[in-house]
Amino acid sequence: MTAAVRMTVPRLAAWKEAGRKIPMLTCYDFTMARILDACRIPVLLVGDSLGQVVLGYDSTLPVTLDEMIHHTRAVTRARPWGLVFADLPFMTYQPSVAHALEAAGELVRAGRADGVKLEGGARSVAAIEALVAAGIPVMGHLGLTPQSVLALGGYGVRGREAVEAETIRRDAAALEAAGCCSLVLESVPALLAAEITAQLRIPTIGIGAGPGCDGQVLVLHDMLGLFGEFRPRFVRRFLEGADLITGAVEEYVRTVQEGTFPAAEHSYGPGGKTPACDPKRTTPRGAGSPEAGGE
Ligand code: KIV
Repeated sequence: MTAAVRMTVPRLAAWKEAGRKIPMLTCYDFTMARILDACRIPVLLVGDSLGQVVLGYDSTLPVTLDEMIHHTRAVTRARPWGLVFADLPFMTYQPSVAHALEAAGELVRAGRADGVKLEGGARSVAAIEALVAAGIPVMGHLGLTPQSVLALGGYGVRGREAVEAETIRRDAAALEAAGCCSLVLESVPALLAAEITAQLRIPTIGIGAGPGCDGQVLVLHDMLGLFGEFRPRFVRRFLEGADLITGAVEEYVRTVQEGTFPAAEHSYGPGGKTPACDPKRTTPRGAGSPEAGGE
């Protein structure tokens, strides 16, 4: 495949102008980053949903900056064509602008992120302005902001009441003015999301926000059907992944126990070369490639 020019932040705005929808997905590791990148996903989000779907926490609140850097680096190691944005975790930007600069700087420097996402409206403007001034692209996040779950009292839809809808409208305008390059709208009524999308020059990315946004994001584990019985209205399962994996693993268990796996074709004979690297690897010099040790 010829090396394509990487996606850029200015091109995101151009996609909006051209009416080209932006499909975004969360991603937390190298293997998935390679698969998603082969599908030309223009934006990968290392979301702090990492906490629930990968690390087994009960919310995003316990996620640390080190965990975010670790997973962001795993994703960026795949050198994706698409942009990689990483969430600033809880309490890495709320305390002060200096905290925000330090944490975002680490996600870009050590994690090699192309930009960061943070939650909140007017209260986050000072941090956003400082990050943008430092050259770090920032994605905003309004509506349901999971890092505020304790104050909000749950994960319900936001902006159904006129006063809250107006706050979200004003916050959206404030985030654009502060320099955000795009804005996630989570769990807001479709009409409100469409109205905000029409008012902003920057692209909006919806999740539970209807079809009127400039783009869409889903948590990868939700759309692949990997995350248990979690089925909110806004998630479409494009795969029943847990069922498929269960079937494959049950087959593995059965074949190992009945002695039909491994068979002769999976076994080494006495001759042949030693594998050039760890035979578990599936990268070009790994097992199964012509360069790996054969029979
Ligand atoms: O952490 C996350 O996955 C997110 C998306 C839901 C937008 O913030």
